[in-house]
Amino acid sequence: MPYNGMKILGLHCSPRGTASRTRRLVAAVLAGAGKAGAETELIDAADLSIVPCTACDACTLTGSCVHDDDVPLLLERLQGADGIVWGSPVYVDNVSGQCKILIDRLADAMHYQLLFGKYGCAVATTHTSGAGAVTAYLNHVLGYLGVVAIGEVHAALGDGAPALEEAEDAAASLGAALAAAIATHAPYPEKEAIIADNRAFFSRIVVENRDWRPGAYEEWVARGWIDGTADGDDPHR
Ligand SMILES: Cc1cc2nc3c(=O)[nH]c(=O)nc-3n(C[C@H](O)[C@H](O)[C@H](O)COP(=O)(O)O)c2cc1C
Repeated sequence: MPYNGMKILGLHCSPRGTASRTRRLVAAVLAGAGKAGAETELIDAADLSIVPCTACDACTLTGSCVHDDDVPLLLERLQGADGIVWGSPVYVDNVSGQCKILIDRLADAMHYQLLFGKYGCAVATTHTSGAGAVTAYLNHVLGYLGVVAIGEVHAALGDGAPALEEAEDAAASLGAALAAAIATHAPYPEKEAIIADNRAFFSRIVVENRDWRPGAYEEWVARGWIDGTADGDDPHR
């Protein structure tokens, strides 16, 4: 079994539970990955307690959030996965509110590249508009987190029932492609270049916080992501 031990986590952000079409499409991606041998899990973000970011800056200063909710556990699950399938319904041509609240809460994980080295993909459903923009945005956010986004699947369901079934076929193929990318450490030079650019930008935060988050700073030096010398680290150079 080539993909033995590989874990792929699906995360969807519709509040409609098992009635959600987005959930169904994320599940189809996971089924494709599962068929290829990956271990999969699907999390309903709307079932979790996720408090909106209050911009207190505690995470920047300490690495921890002041809110006592499910985000740390969710982040742990995401960190334990090799691949992430992120889905949202289109709400007014954007992600759902539940999804955006979660994204804001992951800002520190973006700055510190806590999901670096993983692969992912995006899923969206809509009645008519915005699904391509939402998958592009989710993949953009995955890139901020350090995740190489390999593709997307989306469906406009207002035009009748076959759209979802058709998208499920594409979703299964996407899941198989995601598993293959993880198994082979497939190179995605353009995505990796964007992630490297983002990381260079975020490195200023890691350097500025080095006195109170020395462990993370040292890890970035060890990874070669920051220079580690006083001059080389000057974020204002
Ligand atoms: C608050 C809200 C906003 C929506 N906004 C749009 C929209 O801008 N464009 C659109 O075509 N459909 C829109 N829809 C329809 C949903 O995107 C569509 O029904 C989607 O498939 C729901 O996914 P779900 O079954 O996973 O919850 C909206 C639905 C809701 C509840």
